[in-house]
Amino acid sequence: MKAKIRSALVACLCPLLLSLWACPVWTRAGEPITLTIRADQPGARINPAMWGIFFEDINFGADGGLYAELVKNRSFDFPEALMGWKTYTKRGGAGSARVEQDQPVTPQNLAYLRLYSGGSMGFGVVNEGFRGIGLKRGERYALSFYARNLGSRNPVIRVDLLGPGDRVLASTKFKKSGKEWEKHSATLESSATEAKGRLAISIEGPGTLDLDFISLFPEKTWKNRSDGLRADMVQMLADLKPGFLRFPGGCIVEGRYLTNRYQWKTTIGAPEDRELIINRWNDEFKHRPTPDYYQSFGLGFFEYFQLCEDIGAEPLPILNCGMACQFNSGELAPLDQLDPYIQDALDLIEFANGPATSVWGAKRAAMEHPAPFKLKMIGVGNEQWGPQYIERYARFAKALKERHPEIQLVSSAGPAPADDRFHFAWAKLRDLDAEIVDEHCYAAPQWFLDNAGRYDAYDRRGPKVFMGEFAAQSVAIASPKNRNNLECALAEAAYMTGMERNADVVRLSSYAPLFGHIDAWQWTPNLIWCDNLRIYGTPNYYVQLLFSRNRGDLVLPVALRDSPQAVAAGGIGLCTYKSAAEFKEVRVTRGSATLWSSNLAANADGWRPESAGSWSIRENAYRQSEPTAITTAFAGEKDWSDYTLSLKARKLDGSEGFIIIVRNSGPGSQVQWNLGGWGNKQHGIQVLSGGQDLIV
Ligand code: AHR
Repeated sequence: MKAKIRSALVACLCPLLLSLWACPVWTRAGEPITLTIRADQPGARINPAMWGIFFEDINFGADGGLYAELVKNRSFDFPEALMGWKTYTKRGGAGSARVEQDQPVTPQNLAYLRLYSGGSMGFGVVNEGFRGIGLKRGERYALSFYARNLGSRNPVIRVDLLGPGDRVLASTKFKKSGKEWEKHSATLESSATEAKGRLAISIEGPGTLDLDFISLFPEKTWKNRSDGLRADMVQMLADLKPGFLRFPGGCIVEGRYLTNRYQWKTTIGAPEDRELIINRWNDEFKHRPTPDYYQSFGLGFFEYFQLCEDIGAEPLPILNCGMACQFNSGELAPLDQLDPYIQDALDLIEFANGPATSVWGAKRAAMEHPAPFKLKMIGVGNEQWGPQYIERYARFAKALKERHPEIQLVSSAGPAPADDRFHFAWAKLRDLDAEIVDEHCYAAPQWFLDNAGRYDAYDRRGPKVFMGEFAAQSVAIASPKNRNNLECALAEAAYMTGMERNADVVRLSSYAPLFGHIDAWQWTPNLIWCDNLRIYGTPNYYVQLLFSRNRGDLVLPVALRDSPQAVAAGGIGLCTYKSAAEFKEVRVTRGSATLWSSNLAANADGWRPESAGSWSIRENAYRQSEPTAITTAFAGEKDWSDYTLSLKARKLDGSEGFIIIVRNSGPGSQVQWNLGGWGNKQHGIQVLSGGQDLIV
């Protein structure tokens, strides 16, 4: 019930908002809108897990992101073994650093660092982190590394956290190291906040040392787990109260070639034993001379399941089905060699759900989780298409359903929502009695608005829908200009009302991608952006949150009818709210016709400023220059309707932002976009009548 009312509100808001900024609309207003909810005609049950999240290690999502490790290439196993590291010499120091592989700490990650120091002072290496190491003043960091002393002397090992100009922010020393690999650890407290810190490890005086797995984690990880996840990033996910978590991708499931596909079995157990591979998105770092995106698998399948448990989301692992990414090599595992792939899926079910006495259940129990993870769904393949996929899916489905009828299978309908690949897949999957089909769509906001009714006409029989990846695109994918804007967010919201209304067909939905690091992205837009210290949710994030935190359980028929008498109409206004601001290039258009314009470079003809504040033309703009004033300049007529308002505005001073008004039909009766309102903490759209908020 709650959700349906919320949906109706979103449906009301969309045309109102768009009338402000983009589309000509013909909304009716002035009299109350009639919203009829038929509580006596309950429809489909809404899947409680419907609104979920899509996670992929793209844009530094895992390494450099959610996985809180701060040292890049900690085990020297990048193909360019010293990538991320540089030698570091203190005055009077000298030596060499090279990578060796004999007698490693673990056979899975062979490479380690051999450091030779010949001078009287320090010589070592310094790590640049993932576009820097984020350090916070007063926070503690858990350092660990393996060392082996090769020389006859017992050298002192020194570790420093460095800020700009090699300023030391924290430091510690280790005075003993044995002849065999030995793990050392310490805690460092940073004396300053620094987004681009570095970590230096050096030998003081002469000596020869082997070093490996040089690692640094904030002590404050999510749930304070050692080797854990970045707390602020998980918190953003937990706040969504997601119904499910789809992992580990995305294209990284597939890999560019089958050799670097995601293989879950290599991602569990001790972190040192998880073999590093290249990230599928490494080559998309076109703007970096040497791409540096690898998967350490510190965030592996155990951690994904644990994360699901922590945030109350159902796990939805996606497995490789014998196909490399079809946008890359499209390499195929021959059908007669598919068994190991299918076996991986069967073993995963045992790892997640099997008793602690089973082979794979025992591995879960050894990671201190004897209880099962309650896996109910598995995705077969990521974004696959064509007959090759259907053949492989059919083999997976037969084997998995025979052994595990209780596990629901998610299949793929390719990368686009309505092309030949899509229709081919749907027809075949229907014939195969597939359970849930994963649809993907990255398209213009208009597509989402036009398709809000997409599922109204879907066949009620046969497979259900998982809208597994979607996001409105303001311009082209991966362009820096492809921003998370309000128009896209609202288009997604409108589309989501259509999914919810058709909850008998659409079972699951997730926006994609999830995270973007501002210094290390390959894709735009993303739901949540971060740097090494900070994080924020986009308007699209808050749309997901709105739906996810206000889940309905039943669909009720809703009819929305405007009053036929009144037309949405009224003038425009520019308002400063405890602020100084300036405005220019105001245009009111209907389609391609300009109804009114005022460039405000030389005069403010046609404007009716209130007496409060100080309105004047200054430097080619209409400026209200009193930083504490709440005041509006109005223009236009009460009968203006069906228009788009565009203008330029900027805040100059004051404690809040400014407000753009349309449909002003009398004192305090208007629709307004409040930017930087509520103590400069929020933006909002307000529908006001006689000065009272009807809708915010
Ligand atoms: O979400 C980004 C990418 O888009 C995913 O990796 C892939 O499945 C799709 O093409």
